[in-house]
Amino acid sequence: MAATPLVIDTDPGIDDALAILLALASPEVDLRLVTTTHGNVDLAQTTENALRVLHLAGRSDVPVAAGAAESLVYAQPERAGHVHGRTGLGGVDLPPSPAAVDPRPAVVALAELLLASETPVTVAAIGPWTNVALLLATYPEAAARIGRLVLMGGSAGRGGNVTAAAEFNVWADPEAAARVLGATVPTVLVGLDVTLPTVLDEGGIARFAAAGPVGATAAAILQQYLDHARSSYGTTGVVVHDALALTEAIAPGTLGTVRRDVVVDTTRGAGRGQTLVDRRTVSDSPTAVDVAETVDSPAAVEFLVSRLSDLAARRG
Ligand code: BDR
Ligand code: CA
Repeated sequence: MAATPLVIDTDPGIDDALAILLALASPEVDLRLVTTTHGNVDLAQTTENALRVLHLAGRSDVPVAAGAAESLVYAQPERAGHVHGRTGLGGVDLPPSPAAVDPRPAVVALAELLLASETPVTVAAIGPWTNVALLLATYPEAAARIGRLVLMGGSAGRGGNVTAAAEFNVWADPEAAARVLGATVPTVLVGLDVTLPTVLDEGGIARFAAAGPVGATAAAILQQYLDHARSSYGTTGVVVHDALALTEAIAPGTLGTVRRDVVVDTTRGAGRGQTLVDRRTVSDSPTAVDVAETVDSPAAVEFLVSRLSDLAARRG
């Protein structure tokens, strides 16, 4: 079967880097474009990181187009350097890519790709969803051609990870999130309900670290995440949220989903950035989204570890 064209919209970010490597390791998808956004660190750094991660995997041919430097309405309150390291990749200094940034703004590159593609494109948005909101507003005819939009973000019943109410990607730009979740694009929402129980432990990291230099570098990038998890939560594994979203993008149906109505709290109070998922009913509204509610976490972790090990072994 032909590989599904894939775009990753991202803010690398340690788990973003893993997600990009997972996509490159997966024959089911053909990564055609990476678009970058503000988020874990600032836009210049996420863009540089995206270029370097692709180069690490020997894929500097994949174009990288820079997108939104800020959220739609209010500036993102703070970055996440304390989680991802000052430069976003856990303090690991990857070699610079020979490739330059695509001169097109992210939404233009994305719209052109969507309009030109003969087969439906999957878009995985694993940073704040500002670029997706801008695409919906500026190129609705292109957005309508998204085959599947896989979003990492939000939470139905696990509370937040930045505030008591809000998950980071939604908290970073709630107005964009409201716009994206109010659209009629076929959408899967991969939130904290399924990512938090899916923990990559040190044994799994050691497996891909041993498979070759790319795996060893991925493991070095993860060290910052491990340190943060240990000091903040007392855990010995890491939650690679974005890699789980990519797993669902690569292998649709990995996660158990239910179609729900979801709204975003865009008020400026304590609930700002919360995703309110109506779990009372299954919805048939055109704006309902497939909310990921169940996951086989050991199988998802094994998928990630084996794919990254294969990639590392291939790159020797
Ligand atoms: C999300 O927040 C970011 O820090 C991660 O990269 C992920 O996309 C998890 O809440
Ligand atoms: Ca991210």
